[in-house]
Amino acid sequence: MTIGKIIDGKAFAATLRDTVGEGVAGFVEATGRKPGLAVVLVGEDPASSVYVRSKGKMTVAAGMESFEFKRPDSIGEEDLLDLIEELNHDERVDGILVQLPLPGHIDEAAVIGAIDPAKDVDGFHVVNSGKLATGQEALVPCTPLGCIMLLKDELGDLSGLEAVVVGRSNIVGKPMAALLLAESCTVTIAHSRTRDLASVVHRADIVVAAVGRAEMVKGEWIKPGATVIDVGINRVADTEDGKSRIVGDVATAEALAHVRAITPVPGGVGPMTIAVLLRNTLVAAHARAG
Ligand code: GUN
Repeated sequence: MTIGKIIDGKAFAATLRDTVGEGVAGFVEATGRKPGLAVVLVGEDPASSVYVRSKGKMTVAAGMESFEFKRPDSIGEEDLLDLIEELNHDERVDGILVQLPLPGHIDEAAVIGAIDPAKDVDGFHVVNSGKLATGQEALVPCTPLGCIMLLKDELGDLSGLEAVVVGRSNIVGKPMAALLLAESCTVTIAHSRTRDLASVVHRADIVVAAVGRAEMVKGEWIKPGATVIDVGINRVADTEDGKSRIVGDVATAEALAHVRAITPVPGGVGPMTIAVLLRNTLVAAHARAG
């Protein structure tokens, strides 16, 4: 039995961060200032706090300026919108990221809609998602862009390949489908209501799993030789030692016997997201500098 390749997203992300770092040095030399990324964190969700701290560290390591704004859960929507307006006009800030999810009393769409699309390094503003959908240059969501980079590195030209995206979120599924379409793949978006998901997935040369359900995509669903990108990060209880562990949306151990290549969890897509965020911040800084 042949075993598929495990795609080293951690190493790929480290190389991308180095490349961005070199680009940042060039930007500083040309403009006399550092690109700046502002991250807004509302509340104290532990996972979000970990992400935000890690983003801040890597931003500084890439040679950029990091601005962090922590606000309590109780912040009103108007106050949050005021902060974003301030950051929109702050010349030192090239990228604005509002960590999601936001507390229930705040309208996420209104907050994302308030970000200057030129500083929307998450690519969540409708101006950017509309540009992506219509094939115009845009700031593109970090996780799906990272997935495309890994796929092109592994497969080269994606044109004509059958791609199935499992999951239809605005953050991953929909932009992922748009990016695969832009690479001339034949794209299917499957989701929790899809009938006979196994046979839909079995058609695919490329499977992107982004449903948020632990090991939902089974190994035997995968067409022999397909490439699998696992976006899932699910914490599950490990019955053997009573501790918890992180697994993806794909049953990786089973899938390895079928795939050409697969991203592991952790160490696959996860590290790419922050590396692409740094890249998007540099792109936004260049665009603003003219
Ligand atoms: N929460 C989980 N993923 C993301 C992301 O990519 N961007 C933001 N802003 N929040 C998130």
